[in-house]
Amino acid sequence: MRLCFASNNAHKLDEIRPLLPAGLELLSLADIGCHEELPETQDTLEGNARQKAEYVRQHYGVACFADDTGLEVTALNGAPGVYSARYAGPQRLAEDNVAKLLQELAGQPDRSARFRTVVALAGADGIMHEFAGEVAGVITEDRRGTAGFGYDPVFAPTEGDGRTFAEMSGAEKNRISHRARAVAGLVAFLNEE
Ligand code: IMP
Repeated sequence: MRLCFASNNAHKLDEIRPLLPAGLELLSLADIGCHEELPETQDTLEGNARQKAEYVRQHYGVACFADDTGLEVTALNGAPGVYSARYAGPQRLAEDNVAKLLQELAGQPDRSARFRTVVALAGADGIMHEFAGEVAGVITEDRRGTAGFGYDPVFAPTEGDGRTFAEMSGAEKNRISHRARAVAGLVAFLNEE
């Protein structure tokens, strides 16, 4: 089976690849000749994941899945949430986003947060399926670690040993991460088909 992953984020592709069944041929956007920016104009993770997957299925005629992820911080009433990529502005720089987050939480005793991922699958049959995953954690006082991407240097999962995602190997992050959990739902569904 051939399935496209609708993302230009190489880190996400690296995380997802080892989670998928061996018989599945995973295609990147470059593999299918899609070089334009995908539409992502909805105000929910579900809406954006669906929009990206459906765009690729419609325009390129391949079964496709997309993920959309948000960091939801309790003390910020769930922000940045669906706006996590653009938290510090349209330049979408992780460095700036993390700096803004640490600034907003300065002196804040409640540093609890969660990552939430929605994976949408636009199957060849045109039917849309959704799978969600989340992981609880805390926003650390400082950046720690160099692995991963995005907010990983300041997110320490509650189920872990105090290390941030950026201090873990990819395999360790994949054992508990929001994305791995959502992808597990996708894999279970594909195995049933
Ligand atoms: P998107 O799903 O690519 O739109 O991601 C939204 C924002 O969350 C971006 O700023 C990403 O860098 C960040 N993000 C997504 N997934 C992760 C993750 O697994 N760890 C840390 N940051 C992430």
